[in-house]
Amino acid sequence: MKTKSPLDRQIQSLFPLALASVLILGTARLVLDNLRSCKSNAFRLHGEPTGREHRVPMLVLPQDRIKDECDVFEGRWVWDNVSYPLYREDQCPYLVKQVTCLKNGRPDSMYQNWRWQPNGCNLPRFDPLMMLEMIRNKRLMFVGDSLQRAQFDSMVCMVQSVIPEGKRSLRRVPPRKIFTIKDYNASIEYYWAPFIVESISDHATNHTVHKRLVKLDSVANHSRHWQGVDVLVFESYVWWMYKPLINATYGSRDNVREYNVTDAYRLALETWANWLESSIDPQKQKVFFMSMSPTHLWSWEWRPGSDGNCFGESYPIQGPYWGSGSNLEIMKIVRHALRQLKINVTLLNITQMSEFRKDAHTSVFTERKGKLLTKAQRSDPKTFGDCIHWCLPGVPDAWNEILYAYLLKDHRTIL
Ligand SMILES: *[C@@H]1O[C@H](CO)[C@@H](O)[C@H](O)[C@H]1NC(C)=O
Ligand SMILES: *[C@@H]1O[C@H](CO)[C@@H](O)[C@H](O)[C@H]1NC(C)=O
Ligand SMILES: *[C@@H]1O[C@H](CO)[C@@H](O)[C@H](O)[C@H]1NC(C)=O
Ligand SMILES: *[C@@H]1O[C@H](CO)[C@@H](O)[C@H](O)[C@H]1NC(C)=O
Ligand SMILES: *[C@@H]1O[C@H](CO)[C@@H](O)[C@H](O)[C@H]1NC(C)=O
Ligand SMILES: *[C@@H]1O[C@H](CO)[C@@H](O)[C@H](O)[C@H]1NC(C)=O
Ligand SMILES: *[C@@H]1O[C@H](CO)[C@@H](O)[C@H](O)[C@H]1NC(C)=O
Ligand SMILES: *[C@@H]1O[C@H](CO)[C@@H](O)[C@H](O)[C@H]1NC(C)=O
Repeated sequence: MKTKSPLDRQIQSLFPLALASVLILGTARLVLDNLRSCKSNAFRLHGEPTGREHRVPMLVLPQDRIKDECDVFEGRWVWDNVSYPLYREDQCPYLVKQVTCLKNGRPDSMYQNWRWQPNGCNLPRFDPLMMLEMIRNKRLMFVGDSLQRAQFDSMVCMVQSVIPEGKRSLRRVPPRKIFTIKDYNASIEYYWAPFIVESISDHATNHTVHKRLVKLDSVANHSRHWQGVDVLVFESYVWWMYKPLINATYGSRDNVREYNVTDAYRLALETWANWLESSIDPQKQKVFFMSMSPTHLWSWEWRPGSDGNCFGESYPIQGPYWGSGSNLEIMKIVRHALRQLKINVTLLNITQMSEFRKDAHTSVFTERKGKLLTKAQRSDPKTFGDCIHWCLPGVPDAWNEILYAYLLKDHRTIL
């Protein structure tokens, strides 16, 4: 058995089978989402016009503002079945079949009961009303691939329970999903852009998986939808990691050539950075970048001698651990790109904390092409296990607790 060194900087070309099938599955799901949305729109309730409201200003307690010197990404997962999960799988109507692991037959639920505990400080407790207050009259948008969609779904589930039924709605406007909170004149949105820059995979429901072509110097078709958004949260990784080379254009559309993935990724982030610098008003807008979400495709990396994947795992890894699927060269490019920027973009470096969570992926308790895996497929986790996406409630909730902590840190209460 070949063991990869954790410091291996080569692009892992081990993604193809597992990843491609999962991505195709993502496609089918969006199609279904759209069908479903037609239905849900028809039954959408329309609340009363809001009128005057009595508002008590919400104050941020000093202990809830994380300190600059605290690295919230360094820590451990602690068992907490009292406060976690933050919402129940069967009580969030917005969760899609892909992530509802319990409903899909997962026998254990311990993956829902871990709280992220930074070493140097405590995270503030997530308060949905405060979250809504912070986005009052604002738009919060998640941009990226299906992992980013899960973070969006998670955020929606984390706040939805405090909003009366007629005052919230979810619309699909491909490539966007828009969750509107009427009384707050606020929205939480998702925008499908798996490479951030333009590509032939941008169609929300009909995108190619095996054939990829990225336009490294073009972002305008996406970015016009990001213009003026108050809080932007970007992410892009796994779609790049299919082969060590990727077809792309830079400049002339006719000049397609193969780029080293790391070179291509760097150029794409430059294009993105140029847009940010020309369009973001740092006084009014906030920008975040999520580091890569780790995969747990090869169990020999945490249990030498084994030959499986994340299937059957029910406990987090006790650190230290870093999987070879999380490419350090790409990490370096991200760090460099953010450092060069003339505006502040906050990196939420969630990779390490998520590396520990080999227990939290959907594995076989998910769907494929819009259908739950069959019994036969479930009994073949090596082929059908999805060790890229996460069950909800789960790890993406912790990412959002951190996003919340950062927003809270800068939130000024106006009396
Ligand atoms: C919570 O965890 C503790 C310790 O593992 C266990 O004894 C207890 O039964 C659990 N409570 C619930 C409600 O699951
Ligand atoms: C409502 O939200 C939009 C979009 O975030 C914003 O542009 C607008 O100013 C808000 N309206 C009010 C009355 O604040
Ligand atoms: C999907 O895209 C391909 C290529 O662009 C096209 O031939 C096909 O008709 C499209 N399918 C649907 C359902 O739109
Ligand atoms: C933007 O989208 C339009 C219409 O979908 C397309 O014709 C155009 O080529 C795209 N622009 C770029 C730079 O790809
Ligand atoms: C790039 O495109 C060419 C022509 O379609 C194809 O033969 C080649 O395999 C592609 N390269 C990659 C890395 O996908
Ligand atoms: C890609 O670029 C990296 C860094 O520049 C380099 O280490 C690697 O060898 C290159 N890979 C290929 C296949 O050219
Ligand atoms: C993110 O954190 C990891 C360790 O947890 C570190 O190796 C990496 O350099 C960090 N990434 C950036 C872009 O700072
Ligand atoms: C970025 O944020 C830091 C710390 O919050 C601040 O000191 C600095 O002035 C900001 N830079 C810009 C260009 O806004």
